Amino acid sequence: MWRSRSTKRLAAASLLFASALALQQCGSTPAAGSEGGQPFKPVATVDQVMDAIVIPNAQAIWDSIVYTNGELVASPKTDDDWYNLQMNGYAVAEAGNLLMMAPRARDDGDWMTFAAALVDQSRAAVRAAEAKDVQALLVAGGDVYTVCTDCHRQYVASDPDAPDPPIPGAPATN
Ligand code: HEC
Repeated sequence: MWRSRSTKRLAAASLLFASALALQQCGSTPAAGSEGGQPFKPVATVDQVMDAIVIPNAQAIWDSIVYTNGELVASPKTDDDWYNLQMNGYAVAEAGNLLMMAPRARDDGDWMTFAAALVDQSRAAVRAAEAKDVQALLVAGGDVYTVCTDCHRQYVASDPDAPDPPIPGAPATN
């Protein structure tokens, strides 16, 4: 019976803690962005977000798995390899959010859809790296690549510098 009593006590204690926290939060200033002007301070152009964040991190994901003639010749090995790939995925995912911010966002429609897809597909890459799942990472990398090219097709005039990375290991393209 002490079991249920201590459970109750724990519940009471955490309730107390929760209300103390709530009280504290009531007194604090509202979170940035909830009122007033835009709290963000974008400094990079779309091009610079591509060069600084999107390209190197996406490339790291694509380079991490290599098939030659249908044979897996390179893949993440160590915990560090997998961890770094998670971080690469996070970087590209958050870059999707950066693309949605004014003044980088080009419109309220397809642009947002593509940027949101970049977040989602990159998050799938993070999950694959968390699971240390080569096949899932391969699929996620291909899905990320599709988002890149879909957005560029619509928004990059004549696509002069379109990303041309090989989708690593994708049997259809090798
Ligand atoms: C939401 C739309 C969008 C997505 C998603 C997107 N891009 Fe871009 N990207 C652009 C636009 C727009 C430009 C051209 C910017 C400019 O010239 O002002 C660009 C430019 C580039 C360039 C040329 C940069 C340069 O230095 O000239 C590369 C390379 C590139 N993107 C790679 C990628 C890769 C790789 C991905 C996916 C991992 C990606 N992009 C996803 C919109 C997007």
